[in-house]
Amino acid sequence: MERVIIFDTTLRDGEQAAGGTLNIQEKLGIARQLEKLSVDVIEAGFPISSPGDFEAVRLIAKEIHTPIICALARAHPDDIDRAWEAVEKAKRPRIHVFLSASDIHLLYQLKKSREEILGMSRDMVVRAKKYTDDIEFSPMDASRTEPEYIYQILEAVIDAGATTVNIPDTVGYAIPDEFGSLIEGIFQNVPNINRAVVSVHCHNDLGLAVANSLESVKRGARQVECTINGIGERAGNASLEEIVMAIRTRKDFFNLTTNVETRQIYKTSRLVSELTGFTVQPNKAIVGANAFSHESGIHQDGVIKMPITYEIMDPRTVGIPASSLVLGKLSGRHAFRERLAELGYSLNEEDFDRAFSAFKELADKKKEITDRDIESLVAEEQRTVSEVYHIDRIQVSCGDRGIPTAAVRLIAPDGQVLADAALGTGPVDAVCKAINRLVGVPNVLTEFTVKSVTEGIDAIGEVLIRIESESITYTGRGADTDIIVASAKAYVNALNRLLAAKKVAG
Ligand code: KIV
Ligand code: ZN
Repeated sequence: MERVIIFDTTLRDGEQAAGGTLNIQEKLGIARQLEKLSVDVIEAGFPISSPGDFEAVRLIAKEIHTPIICALARAHPDDIDRAWEAVEKAKRPRIHVFLSASDIHLLYQLKKSREEILGMSRDMVVRAKKYTDDIEFSPMDASRTEPEYIYQILEAVIDAGATTVNIPDTVGYAIPDEFGSLIEGIFQNVPNINRAVVSVHCHNDLGLAVANSLESVKRGARQVECTINGIGERAGNASLEEIVMAIRTRKDFFNLTTNVETRQIYKTSRLVSELTGFTVQPNKAIVGANAFSHESGIHQDGVIKMPITYEIMDPRTVGIPASSLVLGKLSGRHAFRERLAELGYSLNEEDFDRAFSAFKELADKKKEITDRDIESLVAEEQRTVSEVYHIDRIQVSCGDRGIPTAAVRLIAPDGQVLADAALGTGPVDAVCKAINRLVGVPNVLTEFTVKSVTEGIDAIGEVLIRIESESITYTGRGADTDIIVASAKAYVNALNRLLAAKKVAG
């Protein structure tokens, strides 16, 4: 069976989503998980865009060995040289060169003629080819470009050495049948097309990214560019999990396969959501909380009698554990370890000990510990590993008559204990003000959301906070059964990420 190459751009286009900034260690963590997911290509970043992005791509290229590691570059010599510098240590490096092709972009943005664009495309592929054999080229805004001009560009860049030609629907404008015809036209009209893999890169502005990608695959494209949870610029990119599971579930229709280890999908989705701060909507296909839960009595009856009555996929194939075991106060280390393994975590002894004591602490407050509680708890433990400032104590007083007041004690990076107090419009405001007095980094809080991980009054509350400093957004998360403590943890987490980013930027 023919295979579709899965090109994951979560760390590049996905990270371009407003507010989704990741630090270097977080990017490496996601890249490790993408390797476990067995994607074929990881687009690790856009090295010329910032020193942080360059370092992240370089680190991923050094540490991740199985997938191809790709770096993005505009059709400029400096971009290409920088992209190569970032991926040269990779076992299998790729440079991805892009340049706008549509008349709209040429006229209003680049102010260049079609001939000039054609020449630049060819020349920059030749330049990249001096570094590595594996070159991808994208004529940006292809779906709004005259097809004959796309054919010309593709022929020229393949002659210059491009081994993959990617057709982007940059603004998410295409309709499946029309985009499919463009792909078909490419196979029919580009004489040397058999020397390159045809790829597609679809955005979701009209909610059609997955449909356009699948239509292209049906018409011969053999690489799909996509992101975990469909995150990305504006409305996002085609969602990896939806593409992969459509190809797998409808093998009868596509007669194709992918390399993806589907049982890693759920874990990858949770990790990306956790680190980017983008929650997955409950009705999201494949990875949403309701994707496999049946509410209607008729459906429940059918599923109990025979799952295929209403379930087209077995939740275990995407790594959602079918668990009947509920943990609680009396559960021991062994049961906890087994549950972690079923959820796909393999913690070292030190991390396990910390997670287990957090579990015991939670079990004292909450009767039944669900899988989502455990995921939240492990995520909280992992967040605290690389902390700059660490919360030692929080105390608040509030009420309808009182003036909201917070006292906070933090441990500074040098081990010093810092304490201060502040008044606020509410307890969360007071806590944030007290923390600000101690950390002293100017920032503006732009988003604050609280949600409970499970039902019930004893549920863990997860708080997401976004702050802005020098026009960059940093996301912080915190979880606790006390939402004021969760808010303080989320705020300190966002500040820690801000401080870490400033340190990398020098
Ligand atoms: O959407 C787009 O056109 C892109 C290119 C860089 C491939 O992201
Ligand atoms: Zn894109």
